[in-house]
Amino acid sequence: MNLVAIVLAAGRGERAGSGDPKQFRKLGEKPVLARVLEVLCAHPAVSECTAIISDDHRTLFDALVAPEVPASVRTVIGGTERQESVKNGLEAYRGSDATHVLIHDGARPFLSSLLIDRVVDAMKFHDGAVPVLPASDALWRGSGGLLDKTVPRAGILCAQTPQGFSFPAILDAHENHPGSALDDAAIAVWAGMRVAAVRGCPCNEKITTREDFEKAESVESTHPDFRAGQGFDVHRFGTGSSVVLCGIEIPHSHGLVGHSDSDVAMHAIADAIYGAMGERDIGYWFPPNDARWENAPSKDFLRHACELAAEYGYSLSSVDCTIICERPRIGPHVDEMKSSLSASLGIEPRRIGVKATTAERLGAIGREEGIAAMAVAMLKSK
Ligand code: CTP
Ligand code: MG
Repeated sequence: MNLVAIVLAAGRGERAGSGDPKQFRKLGEKPVLARVLEVLCAHPAVSECTAIISDDHRTLFDALVAPEVPASVRTVIGGTERQESVKNGLEAYRGSDATHVLIHDGARPFLSSLLIDRVVDAMKFHDGAVPVLPASDALWRGSGGLLDKTVPRAGILCAQTPQGFSFPAILDAHENHPGSALDDAAIAVWAGMRVAAVRGCPCNEKITTREDFEKAESVESTHPDFRAGQGFDVHRFGTGSSVVLCGIEIPHSHGLVGHSDSDVAMHAIADAIYGAMGERDIGYWFPPNDARWENAPSKDFLRHACELAAEYGYSLSSVDCTIICERPRIGPHVDEMKSSLSASLGIEPRRIGVKATTAERLGAIGREEGIAAMAVAMLKSK
């Protein structure tokens, strides 16, 4: 299966109120359309994504969306109706290797990779697959503000996107379908394609009105994206009369050997933060052979890691660190260490764990050849 994704974003978003069209407005840190493209591009079954945009929104796309999504995302100019926009997208893949296509509304930012899985799996056995939800409210016909009669609810399904289809069949169906249709599934079924209904997701709602946008904002703020990272560091003992751990100087019979202040705990925490962001490690940002970092206080490294996370739209939720050494004893310094980390990380001490263990005299750490530290950092989207 060579699956491509077409994301519809050429509408004007008139019902969603004033301002930029809804697909270009920010939900949390990112425009709606960027969130959609990010999820589709990251799905392992999707080989390429194309955003269908209006020629009038080219500048908006380049300024707000392009920097947030993989450079491989293509754009195609849409038409005045949604159906025309889909057709333009499909035609852009004519003669390509695409065997299947997902068609998704750029105004449905909460699609999940699991939902894509369900559509993709069903497409293996059918000409198409559509996520649906059974109607749950009472259905009525009415006119002039008055109820007339109920509509039987049994068998009524509400369709969402992404809708997936065999590519040649849906291209053909779109080209031959006369007039307008409610969605792509309607065109597929009209053409005689067998379209499977798979379980949709209640959160995968389309933003249509201003109220929908406000609701999406509140969903987004209560469902932050969490990222966890882990870090490890070890430094060997050398001559000296103190060690620096979590920014606190502790008198000791030895010092720790290293380029900076050799604060293993802060180094492990910085690496945990870099890791959570999918970023390179501390040695990449602060190379040990660079004279600028000689004797540098490690709180500068921590601050850099936090600033990088903030740039990506994440804030630190908690940090937990374990220091492994036979000596010095860590316990008496834990409160001071937590305050020091709190100042460097910008989070309250209650969100910071500092723990210590010996190595039970086993191995290099047990022989007091050095100190090691491990850390876990949890970050959440802002
Ligand atoms: N769409 C499109 N091309 C069009 C019209 C709509 O690509 N000519 C896209 C929209 O950008 C949206 C999706 O189809 O992602 C669903 O359409 P709708 O919710 O109606 O969005 P808009 O047409 O933008 O909104 P409105 O009808 O309120 O103006
Ligand atoms: Mg519309």
